[in-house]
Amino acid sequence: MRTDLTPTLWLTGLSGAGKTTLARTLAQALNDSGRHCTVLDGDALRGGLNRDLGFDPDSRSENIRRTAEVARLMNDAGLIVVAALISPLRVDRAQASFIVGAQRFLEIHVSTPLAVCEAADAKGLYRKARRGELVQFTGVSAPYEAPEAPRLAVDPMRMGLQPAVSKLFGLIGDLTT
Ligand code: ADX
Repeated sequence: MRTDLTPTLWLTGLSGAGKTTLARTLAQALNDSGRHCTVLDGDALRGGLNRDLGFDPDSRSENIRRTAEVARLMNDAGLIVVAALISPLRVDRAQASFIVGAQRFLEIHVSTPLAVCEAADAKGLYRKARRGELVQFTGVSAPYEAPEAPRLAVDPMRMGLQPAVSKLFGLIGDLTT
């Protein structure tokens, strides 16, 4: 098995863009097809490995660095990784690519627009951020730098979840078959 090409799909996008749902649905489809895959989700990792980290720029950078190190280990073991983190800054995503290895790292922009994420506001966080009850909230009071040249961009709210999953699945299929 050539683990140097085992990919990490790095899903970046705003809170509420649909990264977690997309990651989990894609991972299920990959596992069902016999390609072993795991999800590294920012929100979930912040409950354990990264529980000591907040949302200031240095903490986000460390959150992303640790996640990339774990992704690398998993790729080394032959597991496809789907990482789902806001990862708002280009510099931090570039560092993640360096850690994982540029030949493995596939940057995917989950490009649901801010207005759509905010209108749905499933966790009520945008409302809190607008009221000033949550500081440094991405898209409201902290920056989000969209990728300039992502491997793929998908907007699951607009195109539908399954077509978005298929697009990503196709990308991996091309790489691993
Ligand atoms: S990242 O910026 O460090 O990559 P990560 O993906 O791990 O973020 O975590 C984002 C999740 O944390 C959001 O989906 C949201 O539920 C929660 N969250 C809490 N506070 C903030 C904040 N200030 N900015 C963004 N997300 C926040």
